[in-house]
Amino acid sequence: MPVTTPAASADAALPQDFDALLHEDPEVAGILLAESGRQSSTLQLVAAENFTSPAVLAALGSPLANKYAEGYPGARHHGGCEQADAVERVAVRRATTLFGADHANVQPHSGSSAVLAAYAALLRPGDTVLAMGLAHGGHLTHGAPGNFSGRWFEFAGYGVDPDSGLIDHTQVRALARARRPKAIVCGSISYPRHPDYETFREIADEVGAYLIADAAHPMGLIAGGAAPSPVPYADVVCATTHKVLRGPRGGMILCGAELAERIDRAVFPFTQGGAQMHTVAAKAVAFGEAATPAFAVYAHQVVAHARALAAGLEAEGFDVTTDGTDTHLVVVDPAPLGVDGRTARDRLMAAGMVLDTCALPHGDTRGLRLGTAAVTTQGMDEADMARIAALFGAAVREGDDAGRLRAEVGELTGRNPPYPG
Ligand SMILES: Cc1ncc(COP(=O)(O)O)c(C=O)c1O
Repeated sequence: MPVTTPAASADAALPQDFDALLHEDPEVAGILLAESGRQSSTLQLVAAENFTSPAVLAALGSPLANKYAEGYPGARHHGGCEQADAVERVAVRRATTLFGADHANVQPHSGSSAVLAAYAALLRPGDTVLAMGLAHGGHLTHGAPGNFSGRWFEFAGYGVDPDSGLIDHTQVRALARARRPKAIVCGSISYPRHPDYETFREIADEVGAYLIADAAHPMGLIAGGAAPSPVPYADVVCATTHKVLRGPRGGMILCGAELAERIDRAVFPFTQGGAQMHTVAAKAVAFGEAATPAFAVYAHQVVAHARALAAGLEAEGFDVTTDGTDTHLVVVDPAPLGVDGRTARDRLMAAGMVLDTCALPHGDTRGLRLGTAAVTTQGMDEADMARIAALFGAAVREGDDAGRLRAEVGELTGRNPPYPG
C-alpha cells in the first residue's frame, strides 16, 4: 500500500484528535489519513460497510483498549474490571432491549466468531448443518471448505430459484427431510429480500433441528424496524455489530434464556479469551444510537435508497436480481451491458465507486453487490441514488472517461462528507 504523508492528505477530515499519533508515528498516521481521504473521496458501496459515529470511534480509542477482562461481569479472571463490568452490562441491557431478546452476548470479536460460538454451543464435530450454499450467497462460515465450518461439520447447501432469485423453500424442506440436520442456518451475504423466518422455523421443527439466524447483514435494519426480526423464531441469532447497525467491527449473539449459559460458555472460554472491552463499549454506544427515532428514520431511508438505486440500475440496463430489494443490498448482473462482473467492478473502481462482486442466482458468472448503508449515513438522498445509477451505467459501458466520472463522484462525496468538519 503506498504511504501518503500527512501533509499530502491534509484535507482528509478525521473525527478523532490525531495530534498524538501524528507526533509519535507520522508513518502510520500518514497511512490512516490516506485511508480517511480514500473513504471520503470515493463512493463506499461495499454492502458490509458503513461510517460509525464519532462517539463510536471515541469509545474504540478509549482507555478500555488497555483492559483485560476475561469472563463476564461479576465473574472476571482479572482485577480492576469495575468499569469493564459496567460497560458490558450497559451493552447487554441495550442489546436485549433493542432486539427484544432474553439474552445477549456482546463479546464475539467478529461475525465469524459469533457463528463459531453458536455452532460450538449447539453442535458436535461431524454434525450435519443445512445452510445457504456458498454459490447462492452463503457466508464462509456456512460450510466453506477452507473455513472451520466446512472442516468440522457436514454441510448441505440450499439455494435460490435460478429465475426468481428467491429462496426455494420446497428445496430447503426436502433437504431437511433427507439430511436431518442438527441445525439449519438462515442468512446470507447477498440475499436482497427478507428470509421467511416463520417457514424456516416450521422446517426446523419438523426435523428437530436448531434454527440459527445469521443476521449479520439485516441486523441494523431490524434495529430500526425496517426489516422483520428473527428473534421470535430462531434459537440463536448471530450478527455483526458493523454493517447497517453502524457500530464497531465485531459480533454479537442473541438467544432465549434456556440457551444463555451454553452460548456464554461457547464464547468464553471455548472460542475466545478476553473480550475487547473498548469494542464492547463501542457496541454499547452503537446500540444506544440504534434505539433512537433518528436511527429508525435512517434504517428506512437505507431501504428506500436501495430501492431507488435498484430502479436506476434497471433503467441503465443492468439485470437486478429478484427484481429489486427489501434491504440495503442490491445485486445486479452487468451482462446485458456486455461485460462480466469483474470487469465491471474494475471499471467502477477506476471511476471511484467501491464495491464487491458476488455470486449470481443463475450460474457461473459473477454479479455486482452494492449497499446503501454508508452513502445514506453520509446524507445522500434518492436523487443522489439516481445519479449514482447513471454513473454506474456510464462507467460500466465501454469507452466512458473514468476521469470525468471520478470528478462527478468527487462532487457527490464533497457535498456529503462522512465526517463533516
Ligand atoms: C452472513 C454473514 N455471516 C457472517 C459474517 C462474518 O462477519 P466477520 O467478517 O465480522 O467475521 C458476515 C460478514 O460479512 C456475513 O455477511
